Amino acid sequence: MYAALRSVGAYVPKKVLTNADLEKMVDTSDEWIFKRTGIKERHICADDEYTSDIGVKAGELAIQRSGLKKEDIDMVVCATITPDYFCMPSTAAIISDKLGLNPVTAFDISAACTGFVYVLAVAKAFIESGMKKNVLVIGSEKLSAITDFTDRATCVLFGDGAGAAVLSATEDKTEAIIDIHTAADGSYGDFLMTPIGGTGNVHSAELKNEASFIKMRGNETFKVAVRTLTKDVVQILEKNRIKKSDITHFIPHQANYRIIKAVGDALKLDEKQVVLTVHKYGNTSGASIPMAMNDLYESGKLKTGDLMLLDAFGGGLTWGSALVPFAGKK
Ligand code: ACO
Repeated sequence: MYAALRSVGAYVPKKVLTNADLEKMVDTSDEWIFKRTGIKERHICADDEYTSDIGVKAGELAIQRSGLKKEDIDMVVCATITPDYFCMPSTAAIISDKLGLNPVTAFDISAACTGFVYVLAVAKAFIESGMKKNVLVIGSEKLSAITDFTDRATCVLFGDGAGAAVLSATEDKTEAIIDIHTAADGSYGDFLMTPIGGTGNVHSAELKNEASFIKMRGNETFKVAVRTLTKDVVQILEKNRIKKSDITHFIPHQANYRIIKAVGDALKLDEKQVVLTVHKYGNTSGASIPMAMNDLYESGKLKTGDLMLLDAFGGGLTWGSALVPFAGKK
């Protein structure tokens, strides 16, 4: 048994936060943000709009486009670093309930911006082992909730959004996910972290007013990201004897245009192969890859049989890549 990616879906919150808006909040400029990151605007959830709410909307669309019924879904896995609740219940369990699914296996994965590649790997393994048949995978993030909007070094980078896909069992190897690679190196943990609030640094009398905001060593992260993303792609292509020209769409995690450009150039990919959405969504962590896949789909550019190469990098540090044919309805 193999695993095929049947459908995609996404949802972006209505509120748009532009670079001009940020100019009024911190000492920054549209010119600096665009030149250093490629970002023009990002979407932000309403206060009462949770990670699960936007994940439900993306998931609903993915199920509808897969042609399956809700009762066919037998597992939900959600990639998120901004769950509705710290510890429990999991956002995947909340999403399953809000979607009206049967009581099915549901859990979250925490791998920051690599989260969607991790959930794909988990879903693929469950399907190939015969334990599950139709898995809803979601990347959903409300990063605005852990962003310090007084810190210009980070607040210009992140946005909110959700993306989803349905993976199904198939006996047809030609439509199967070819390979997925995932990795983590915790020795770089302090490059990207939310230092306060976990059991490593519990909210206390002294820390009670400190929020769990993202702290980042951006410049160092940038260098490791370019090196690691490039190496990972070379390895997965060589291992599976796939030529760069066989890739229809290269879909990297959308953190920064300069990282994407550097990786694309190092790999000598054609610009037409490289998918870019960072200008309109910013960095949406675990949601960025499925949101980009959905953009491709809705623009009519993602066709059944197209080969997608996914490549992600994020807090942990984590990284991963995947070779995924689009196996949508013919
Ligand atoms: N507006 C204006 N100036 C700024 C801003 C801002 N928003 N932010 C920083 N600066 C200033 C700095 O203070 C510094 O000033 P100085 O030279 O006077 O000291 C100068 O700009 C340069 O700062 P750098 O941090 O060196 O800028 P850099 O070119 O590295 O760009 C950035 C910063 C965009 C954060 C980049 O390093 C980056 O994209 N890093 C990687 C991020 C990433 O990939 N994260 C992984 C995924 S995220 C996740 O897992 C959740």
